[in-house]
Amino acid sequence: MKHKYAKGEGMKITTFSKSIIPFRQGDAKKVGQGCYYADMIVWLNGDQIKLGNNVGFNFGCYVNGFGGLIIEDGCRFGPYTMIHTANHIVDNVDAGIDGQGWNKKPVHIEKEVGVIMGIIILPGVRIGEGSLIGAGSVVAKDIPPYRIAVGNPCKPKKSRK
Ligand SMILES: CC(C)(COP(=O)(O)OP(=O)(O)OC[C@H]1O[C@@H](n2cnc3c(N)ncnc32)[C@H](O)[C@@H]1OP(=O)(O)O)[C@@H](O)C(=O)NCCC(=O)NCCS
Repeated sequence: MKHKYAKGEGMKITTFSKSIIPFRQGDAKKVGQGCYYADMIVWLNGDQIKLGNNVGFNFGCYVNGFGGLIIEDGCRFGPYTMIHTANHIVDNVDAGIDGQGWNKKPVHIEKEVGVIMGIIILPGVRIGEGSLIGAGSVVAKDIPPYRIAVGNPCKPKKSRK
């Protein structure tokens, strides 16, 4: 089958390119209307995750809600994005990393945030409303609203307003 699009028209997801799967109630503590993910998501500790309306995850994301995760309305996550919400406790150098438990650090992503492609969101971070995070960024600190933020560590580069 041929797919023809006018110049500038949005790219289309088709059954030939990937599967779009609706979240079900019970996949998270709260699931808003119209939330979806594409194939290959790793979704852990959903009972600690709250999703607003129309939140979407592209291919291959890793999302671990262990320490608490809130994602507000209209957020989009590009392919191969990773979100974690807890750090290993490593205080005792004589004990293995796995045996010392976790330090929970909730993540909060405000509404209409665009997390583009291949991004790592570290525990404890808050991303402000309407911000856009550039490809390959590592978000280690809070990002204010309406910024275009890029890099490792991710820092605001431009304002959207
Ligand atoms: C974030 C993004 C949208 C910004 O685009 P833009 O507003 O046109 O930004 P510019 O190209 O003007 O770049 C501004 C500055 O940020 C830097 N920059 C842009 N994106 C960057 C990134 N992802 N990582 C590091 N630096 C980046 C540029 O080098 C430039 O630096 P300078 O001011 O020192 O010259 C874009 O760079 C990006 O990451 N696009 C990815 C697109 C994508 O993944 N699409 C698929 C979605 S599923």
